[in-house]
Amino acid sequence: MAGAAVLLSSLKGLALSKAEKKIKIAVIGCGSVSTQYLPHLSKSPFVELISCCDIIYDRAKTRSKEYNIPNHYPHIDQMLAGAEFDLMITLTDMQEHGRLNKQALLAGKNVWSEKPMANTYKEGKALLDLAKSKKLRIWGAPAVVNSPQFEFMSKALQEGKLGKVSSAHAHYGHTGPTWSAFFYEKGGGSLPDLGVYNIATLTGLLGPAKSVMAMTSIVTSERTVDNKGKIIVEAEDNAMLLMDHGNGVISHVQCGFNYFDPYGHEGKGQEKNTIQLWGSHVNMGLAGYDWAPHGVDMVTHDHETSQRFVPDPGKYVWQEGATVIAESMVKDIEPRIVAEHALHVLEVIEATRASSATGKKIMLQSKFKWPMV
Ligand SMILES: NC(=O)c1ccc[n+]([C@@H]2O[C@H](COP(=O)([O-])OP(=O)(O)OC[C@H]3O[C@@H](n4cnc5c(N)ncnc54)[C@H](O)[C@@H]3O)[C@@H](O)[C@H]2O)c1
Repeated sequence: MAGAAVLLSSLKGLALSKAEKKIKIAVIGCGSVSTQYLPHLSKSPFVELISCCDIIYDRAKTRSKEYNIPNHYPHIDQMLAGAEFDLMITLTDMQEHGRLNKQALLAGKNVWSEKPMANTYKEGKALLDLAKSKKLRIWGAPAVVNSPQFEFMSKALQEGKLGKVSSAHAHYGHTGPTWSAFFYEKGGGSLPDLGVYNIATLTGLLGPAKSVMAMTSIVTSERTVDNKGKIIVEAEDNAMLLMDHGNGVISHVQCGFNYFDPYGHEGKGQEKNTIQLWGSHVNMGLAGYDWAPHGVDMVTHDHETSQRFVPDPGKYVWQEGATVIAESMVKDIEPRIVAEHALHVLEVIEATRASSATGKKIMLQSKFKWPMV
């Protein structure tokens, strides 16, 4: 009896310490997307917001006030030398991610990075190797594989419900961000900003791509953005790519910053399928965007009118990635999101640019553990 009581109290202690444990978080980059991440992070029982940082220092001060973050800094060096934390969340200009993520890893911090994790596949792979050598972790957005709709589609594919799968298509576009120039500068573009979601979804569903053929273009050569006024567009703002997933399966992604989009940045009201997969028995489509899905539509050999599954918008939101990672760190469980997948997506993006520049098919080397569900 006494032994059982001791065990019970120690289990209670364990449960208590787990429930009380929080991941100490520092956010770098206090612009637009931080206003989506911080409300979600601040509601999590697994998160303690410790620091925020932005080279536009007023932004860091503002976020610190808004979300009760005790420390704010104007530079990563000061943040890394300042209050202790476990996980850095990188929400800066895309071109800065690789450099800042490396600095954080070298300082012994785990990293969640907005997309892309780095500027090139090679740089990203070096980051993952560095993290492993230091027994740290790094993860990259997007979080599309977390949605219940992705899970449903992945299971349907694995159970062979579609019959022989041949083809898939995905698209995402709008008229382009208006606030920051980096989206249009070298290293930016609609691929790492928008196509990245679709590439993550299709490779997540169909497996790593073996090769890529693509075309990209610049449709709008000049833009006016809030932080720099009139700029010359250097990165593609229009892209189409084909991926070969093996076994004859070919998929297609299109993205761009010149798409009239009546559904706005929230994606609300996007009822149509933005992801489609074709099999010999079933055609399957994802209703809404893959970052804001609200159903899976199926037309089957035995039921030719479309049926909707997983209609519940659920608790999944695209900005949940870092919060889910914090929870998985506290609970010591492996999240579905893995760095190898983010790196594969980065390699596809790089291959898309290379294929367009050379007119050639580009073979890929990276893989990730698949299926993901
Ligand atoms: N805005 C969105 O809705 C959205 C959605 C999903 C993902 N993202 C991704 O989030 C990232 C940021 O996008 P955003 O729209 O928030 O851009 P933004 O321009 O609004 O914010 C970026 C912030 O990072 C700061 N910054 C840049 N370099 C820095 C450095 N070295 N150290 C500290 N701070 C630095 C800038 O001063 C700016 O405040 C991008 O990777 C983007 O693709 C954005």
